[in-house]
Amino acid sequence: MNIGSIVRSANAFGADTVHIVGRRRWNKRGAMVTDRYQHVEHREDVAALVAWAHEQSVPIIAIDNVPGCVPMEMFDWPERCVMLFGQEGPGLSQEAIDAAEAVVEITQYGSTRSINASAAAAVTMYSWVLQHSPLRPR
Ligand SMILES: C[S@@+](CC[C@H](N)C(=O)[O-])C[C@H]1O[C@@H](n2cnc3c(N)ncnc32)[C@H](O)[C@@H]1O
Repeated sequence: MNIGSIVRSANAFGADTVHIVGRRRWNKRGAMVTDRYQHVEHREDVAALVAWAHEQSVPIIAIDNVPGCVPMEMFDWPERCVMLFGQEGPGLSQEAIDAAEAVVEITQYGSTRSINASAAAAVTMYSWVLQHSPLRPR
């Protein structure tokens, strides 16, 4: 459901492509049919995603609340980037974190350790929009 929900948010916020790392099967219900319009590609593993990103010269920005991460409020989003989210439970692997140019966290103020992965993706994409929106005066 999280992947579907991320596909829907990616469509809403104008992301170019959603890359799903790992298993090919995912529950399309959360996408609410946006998967028909949103580019979705599969990468076998983190190494394959990293190879693709290098080929395209697009930096990987890991999104997780791990030691050493930068609060999103302080982060200047590159115009082109891959936002890399982890799965519920384990979050991002060390391999994924090591492949990233920066690790960015959504600052939290309550007692919960983390927020839902698809909620994190929506917040993150909107953070990018706040900095790069064409509506923003230059
Ligand atoms: C439910 S979290 C699990 C991992 C998390 N590191 C933890 O300690 O519980 C799953 C994914 O959602 C995203 N996420 C959830 N809360 C976040 C936060 N406060 N800041 C950045 N990413 C977050 C990350 O991509 C994370 O890998």
